[in-house]
Amino acid sequence: MKFIVTGGAGFIGGNFMHYMVNKYPEDQFINLDLLTYAGNLETVAPLEGKPNYRFVRGDIADRKFIFDLFAREKPDVVVNFAAESHVDRSITDPEAFVRTNVCGTTTLLDACRTYGIKRYHQVSTDEVYGDLPLDRPDLFFTETTPLHTSSPYSASKASADLFVLAYHRTYGLPVSISRCSNNYGPYHFPEKLIPLVISRALADEKIPVYGTGANVRDWLYVTDHCSAIDLVVRKGLEGEVYNIGGHNERTNLDVVKTILRSLNKPESLIEFVKDRPGHDRRYAMDPTKIETELGWKPEYTFDTGIPKTIEWYLSNREWWEHIVSGEYQKYFDKMYSKRLAEGENA
Ligand code: NAD
Ligand code: TYD
Repeated sequence: MKFIVTGGAGFIGGNFMHYMVNKYPEDQFINLDLLTYAGNLETVAPLEGKPNYRFVRGDIADRKFIFDLFAREKPDVVVNFAAESHVDRSITDPEAFVRTNVCGTTTLLDACRTYGIKRYHQVSTDEVYGDLPLDRPDLFFTETTPLHTSSPYSASKASADLFVLAYHRTYGLPVSISRCSNNYGPYHFPEKLIPLVISRALADEKIPVYGTGANVRDWLYVTDHCSAIDLVVRKGLEGEVYNIGGHNERTNLDVVKTILRSLNKPESLIEFVKDRPGHDRRYAMDPTKIETELGWKPEYTFDTGIPKTIEWYLSNREWWEHIVSGEYQKYFDKMYSKRLAEGENA
């Protein structure tokens, strides 16, 4: 089978490329990525030269480029990771999210309709369900929970999901969707919470915690997400949505304190800063469907995945220091200098 994997130079797409290229030497994998600020070819450098792997730079929202690529390659499977993925960036620049996440998805769907496809898989997120109250630990998102988005990011991802399902219903396109909880692990861009805490703590820099740090996220080690997508693409039913999560809920403050403890760094590094506008309170996935129907089981819990992740960041300093010393630094200053100054108002 020939796969086009979009966004394969990003965090989860990059891990997925490593997972699939090594697991399926008989399949062909084309990594299609625009290399935005979040794309990093160093993430997939170990795959260069493998006979079943190729990188192509391009924009999923560029219709001519995508149609030419599909005409040439005639892929059997498309797995779409490519996206603008950072909620904070979506608050300052929603337009880029509409272009890539919505128009990019419909461009890929149109190319699949035109050239034929065995499976189009959309990598979606738990954020399309909105949030849950902090005082109802009995509530979880299921696949039938109504879409109810909060941020421009989640609104763009939910729109894309609706287009994917519409193309199934209207044109009979063989699609599937997976919606996963927050990921962490190797190659995570250091503006997201977990790598940000690790990299800043190692440099004895302040750790910005939004609001009171009481917001809850449901954390999944990234290779468990990869194995779930692999399963859905190969065994999942057409037109179906599968939730992915491992029941690893933690408050943001717990996550930060756990990492600081592991690195022997003081909690005095924590600085409470002004909250994110519209900040979702709690995400919590019910993964019963993928567990019972497809037999998926995660390999890691938060308690086993976090030490592994910290160990990776300690052994791969060059990967993230290279990012931290580049454009990221300017981004961090732009986004956080004002918030840190407003810290006492958190
Ligand atoms: P990321 O930001 O690390 O990577 C996104 C990749 O897409 C980058 O390599 C970037 O260069 C590429 N890209 C962006 N715009 C593009 C375009 N127009 N054309 C081609 N490539 C483009 O994101 P991630 O955290 O790896 O997330 C991947 C996917 O998984 C996203 O669709 C996201 O919504 C979803 N998801 C993420 C999480 C999470 O915790 N990170 C959880 C659930 C779902
Ligand atoms: P993030 O990694 O941006 O993922 P998402 O918003 O998609 O869940 O953030 C995870 C949580 O951590 C979220 O509740 C916001 C919070 N957060 C902070 O408190 N400080 C930070 O510097 C960042 C980046 C996030």
